[in-house]
Amino acid sequence: MCGIIGYTGKRNAKDVILSGLFSLEYRGYDSAGMAVVSEGKTVTVKTAGKVKMLENAANSLNLCGSIGIGHTRWATHGAPTFENAHPHTQGRVTLVHNGIIENYAKIKTALEKEGYRFSSETDTEVAAALIDSRLSAEGDPLKAIGSATEKMRGSFAFAMIIEGFPNVIFAARRDSPLIIGTGEEEAFIASDITAILKYTRNYLIPESGDIARVTSDGISVFDSDLLPVAREKKVSVWDTESAEKGGYPHFMLKEINEEPTAIKNVISGRIKNGVPDFSGDGENIVARLASTDRIFTVACGTAMHAGLFGKYITEKLARRPCECELASEFRYKNPIVGKDDAVIVISQSGETADSLAALRLAKEKGAFTLGIVNVAASSIAREADNVIYTRAGPEIAVASTKAFTVQATVMTLLSVAIALESGKIDAETAKRITSELSYELPEAIKILAGDDGHIKKIAAEISKSENAFFIGRGIDRYAAEEGSLKLKEISYIHSEAYAAGELKHGTLSLIGEGVPVIASACDRALYEKTKAGLSEAKARGAMTVFVSPADICTEKDGDFVIALPCISEYIAAISAVTAYQLLAYHTAVMRKTDVDMPKNLAKSVTVE
Ligand code: G6P
Repeated sequence: MCGIIGYTGKRNAKDVILSGLFSLEYRGYDSAGMAVVSEGKTVTVKTAGKVKMLENAANSLNLCGSIGIGHTRWATHGAPTFENAHPHTQGRVTLVHNGIIENYAKIKTALEKEGYRFSSETDTEVAAALIDSRLSAEGDPLKAIGSATEKMRGSFAFAMIIEGFPNVIFAARRDSPLIIGTGEEEAFIASDITAILKYTRNYLIPESGDIARVTSDGISVFDSDLLPVAREKKVSVWDTESAEKGGYPHFMLKEINEEPTAIKNVISGRIKNGVPDFSGDGENIVARLASTDRIFTVACGTAMHAGLFGKYITEKLARRPCECELASEFRYKNPIVGKDDAVIVISQSGETADSLAALRLAKEKGAFTLGIVNVAASSIAREADNVIYTRAGPEIAVASTKAFTVQATVMTLLSVAIALESGKIDAETAKRITSELSYELPEAIKILAGDDGHIKKIAAEISKSENAFFIGRGIDRYAAEEGSLKLKEISYIHSEAYAAGELKHGTLSLIGEGVPVIASACDRALYEKTKAGLSEAKARGAMTVFVSPADICTEKDGDFVIALPCISEYIAAISAVTAYQLLAYHTAVMRKTDVDMPKNLAKSVTVE
């Protein structure tokens, strides 16, 4: 969480920083700030609230410097106030930070004894003071950063300006994401590549523990012993357009509309002779998964729901034991996992702190680890034994949409591959599901996304309510989980997901006149049973919405019916989630919430 950026070169630093911060705002938007070296002086501007407010404040000043740093905050220590906004200055050091310094209170007490005084409640201001204190002792900024970071527990990506070094930005990282972009006589520091795509696609990633000295003439990276190291140069395959709205009112709607292409991209090159083929992603991935004792899918948020899809399909199709675990639980429960197991970590960003920690734990315990990741060269992608990239392009809206669709697509394809490898299905079945994923699913989603107003009409009804319920059985139960999350996170309507059979064990008491109950039945074997659950809610006054394949549903199945233009269970269930994404989107728009940046949330959760 939090986005950081730094620039040095010939351009107006303020403009580069603002443009970068607008792109990074999905990481947090509680407050924003920047520091620019203008006419030899470091000028800091900050505001509580979003980057737009910072832009107004910065534009009222004559900031003409060509070196500076910026920050957009998701509050961890201290309320989202002006005082707590970054950058923070202590002595000669002006710093922006993404991460958490866990032992900051102890460090703060020691620094107070040295005479430092603090004006914010943040751990970041303490980090700035510690580096300043070490600078007084060491004289050399690299040594100062090295010895200060050695004393810090926790995670950080820092970008800083140090008085006396007017042409340099210093950077350091431990666990939190940080990239350094390179251009013609200019350089950039950013939390991720989307912030600088407008200027360059060339970048390198400092390893955890590295410290960098960045100038417009060149970049020097040092390891934790302060020895110079070369980090591999990379070129991003993403372009500026993919990180912009492209005529859509919101990123979320744009990203839903990108799902058909994203599915085609993720499947492309992963089919041979009509069946899934992951050999391009690493040797023997499928054989290893097929021969393990147990498979775990581990993730957070929406990615965890894709993990639930994976669990369900792997067990049903491949008959392999598969558990889905929340990364934040898995990492602390001393999980029963070892060298005969496989752990699949699913993450759009590849940086989610809990997912990364779960991956490291699984590796430590000797399990085979596989990352299913969208962002190239992110920590999870680099640390897993193998990685399958989901190739969805940048996802900017905080509510995940296309990332889920491709994760679920990969999990389905992988389950088919495991089932085929272990002889649980024949080649014909594998070919059928693979072809449905490749052709039927993108087409179905295209039709849903081109909805002529039917979903909007249902959204108008839901938007009047303060509570909603999503239900389903089998795979539909997991579609319900994701539908419910989508609705509540962006429309702020309280919503819960239930296994359809559980309604009568308590939840029915919450159903009253007009409360939306939304059910999907993509598994046709469970269609009648799910419909019965919905009828029970209807009998208590609920406003019912029924979602199921077009060939089995009828208009009478609910007050509103969404007929999915695809037939088979797994594929229909993925498209049901797209229908839910659209339902949530239109509901949120009608309730006039900030669709792309819902309150209190952030896209990339790099703190636990
Ligand atoms: C945050 C985002 C979610 C996302 C989750 C996991 O909560 O708002 O959309 O699903 O983190 O993120 P990851 O990058 O690991 O998929």
